[in-house]
Order: sequence, then C-alpha cells, then structure tokens
Amino acid sequence: MPATLYLSKTGGGKTTLMRSHVSDLVTSSPDLVFLIVDHGEVAGKPAWKDLPCDKRIFRSVGEWWHMPSRVALFQGVSGDEVAQLAIDCGWSVYVDDEADGVVGEGKWKENPLREIVKRGRHIANRAGEITEVHAMLATHRPANLPTDVGGTFDRVYVGPMVAYNEADRVRREGWVNGRNVAETLATLQGLQPGEFLSWP
Ligand SMILES: Nc1ncnc2c1ncn2[C@@H]1O[C@H](COP(=O)(O)OP(=O)(O)O)[C@@H](O)[C@H]1O
Ligand SMILES: [Mg+2]
Repeated sequence: MPATLYLSKTGGGKTTLMRSHVSDLVTSSPDLVFLIVDHGEVAGKPAWKDLPCDKRIFRSVGEWWHMPSRVALFQGVSGDEVAQLAIDCGWSVYVDDEADGVVGEGKWKENPLREIVKRGRHIANRAGEITEVHAMLATHRPANLPTDVGGTFDRVYVGPMVAYNEADRVRREGWVNGRNVAETLATLQGLQPGEFLSWP
C-alpha cells in the first residue's frame, strides 16, 4: 500500500486481483479498517459481497458510525463520502474498483481522495490523531487520471489494455517501459485477463 493503483481494460481482471489483495490484507493487517465502495453486481463477474471474510453492508456513512464494521461494503454511497469517512476514522483503507468517478477531471482538487493519495501516511482523523490512510483504486481509463497523481502511487498493477492513449499515459508515467508507445501498447495487448505487470 499506502496508495495502490490497478489499471486494465474492462474485463481485464482488476476487481478479481483487488479482491484477492483485500482478502490477504484483512488477515495480515488486523489493525486497519477496510471501507469498500461496492459499485454493484454484474452477472458472472466477481462481487465484493463474496469477499471471503466477515463484513457488513452499509447504505450510508452515518450507519457505519452508528455500528462500525472492520470490513464494510458501501452500496449506493458516493466514493467522496466513503473517502472522507476513511480520513475521519483513520487507520483505514479506501477500496474503489471503479474510481473513475472520484478521480475524474474537475472533481479532483477538492476531493478527500486526493488527500489520501498525497498525504496518506499522516492524516489527522476526527479525533485529531495522526493516522495512516491507504487507498486501493482501479480505473480502466488511466489517460483520464489527474496530471498531479503520477508520482504518488507506491505500486501500480497494469493488465490488458487496447487503446493507444491509455498505453501512452502508462508509458509516460513510467509504469510500463517501451521504446515508443506502439511497443508499450503491444506489451499490454499481449496480456491475458488476470495477467498484470507490477511497478516498481
Ligand atoms: N487471474 C485470472 N485468471 C483467469 N481469468 C481471470 C482472472 N482474473 C479475471 N479473470 C476473468 O476476467 C473476468 C473479468 O474480471 P474482472 O475482475 O471483473 O475484471 P475488471 O474488474 O477489470 O473488469 C472474470 O469474470 C474472470 O472470468
Ligand atoms: Mg471491475
């Protein structure tokens, strides 16, 4: 962690990989709270409600404060609200497997997620305690990531991708090498679903 990014085309395996990482971390990091934005189920696709651990579903942030759960799935709650909750409670991990909505252009500057990605190692929670807040984010549109987000991820997983502008961004950020964009694109087009390159 503290900030991990998952990139691939739709169907490339981002949710599957994140779910397995979350499942491992829930066991290996017992002091962290996992706040997961559940974007809903698609038939035949991996679902967060199948995460193999104790968890509860919440329909509002207030509900979580009323009766917190260490692993929480938020349904019908905006990513911004869940990211703010991650800051307010602290010692937490914000998980969003379709982060395009919160990371997209225009929304980024005032976004609590920006705080997490930039200053996650020491953010004051609601009680004023300095804590660590982690983020696990996925998007199928890396080209749309804000320009200032580049150097702030500690780990990036890059899976199958087919579009030139996505390969261009991934190469410019240095996440996948290539003498030119065409070479990086060929590398990414050659990956199978579930096959990820990791940086650094
Ligand atoms: N490691 C893997 N090995 C084989 N197939 C995989 C793997 N990861 C994902 N898949 C296949 O790809 C499909 C889409 O995966 P998913 O995680 O939903 O992708 P994304 O979140 O990038 O859209 C899954 O239903 C599964 O069949
Ligand atoms: Mg997905």
